[in-house]
Amino acid sequence: MEAINSIEEIRNRLRSLKEQGKTVGFVPTMGALHEGHLSLIRIAKEMADAVVVSIYVNPEQFGPDEDYDQYPRQLESDLEICREEGVEAVFAPSDEIMYTDKKFIRIEVDELKDHMDGASRPGFYEGILLVVNKLFNIIEPDVAVFGQKDIQQYRILERMALEMNHGVDMVMAPIKRANDGLALSSRNAYLSEEERLQAPALFRSLRYVEKQIKDGVTTPKLLIDHQKSELQAKGFKIDYFNVFTLEEMAPVEKLTEGQTYIIAGAVYLGTTRLIDNLIIEF
Ligand code: PAJ
Repeated sequence: MEAINSIEEIRNRLRSLKEQGKTVGFVPTMGALHEGHLSLIRIAKEMADAVVVSIYVNPEQFGPDEDYDQYPRQLESDLEICREEGVEAVFAPSDEIMYTDKKFIRIEVDELKDHMDGASRPGFYEGILLVVNKLFNIIEPDVAVFGQKDIQQYRILERMALEMNHGVDMVMAPIKRANDGLALSSRNAYLSEEERLQAPALFRSLRYVEKQIKDGVTTPKLLIDHQKSELQAKGFKIDYFNVFTLEEMAPVEKLTEGQTYIIAGAVYLGTTRLIDNLIIEF
């Protein structure tokens, strides 16, 4: 199996599969595949007859000061992993294939992006919506699997699939972690040895807040402030760290019974941005 970079070729390939009555599961990625991506591929395999993985570092979702140039690119080893996992096809287009020179069309996101990464990274979710919308139109999958790691991305794409009538079943896969709790991420490769040892403190802080909430705390502000100071004291720079509603992705002051919340944080360790979250049914 080799990577397919032409839209026509991937369409032809999938057309013949679909003619045989096979269902297609889709896992969009930016490559530098790790166990987190593999868990998505495995879930997609359980849910569909054939799995397509896309590998594309989407320039539209990187801000001007972000790590687009630095982002790890390792197509050959990614392909090898996909072969081992029994992936049917890998779609790895070039920028010229994905985007026309001039773009007249944009897709906007409403309130769902007002907090968390949407607030700190202008244009980020518009870039993601654009590329995933295009990928859904090219692949036309039956099922698509995304990770809880990027939970705001999942919620926004779930709404896109629904509101734009993509007819794709959206699945959210749990977060894969290293033994010390750090959420796996292609960006962890940027961490120095010392930073890598520090990094799981974010997960531990989220867990601490989760425990306190489970033990009955309903107004988490003080608790959150305390965890933020502890993280700062350890050398983390905090972008956000708070409890949000899963439904609106908006911060909450007081938790109410029967709601689903997420405890989520984004921090910088040196120049590396780490994100993580826990879902809590209250
Ligand atoms: P990327 O960061 O490569 O992630 C691809 C998918 O893997 C996403 O759905 C992400 O949530 C999931 N993922 C990453 N780390 C994970 C982990 N530790 N456990 C479980 N799942 C994990 O997200 C993107 O790419 C892009 O924004 C994309 C959707 C491909 C659009 O360009």
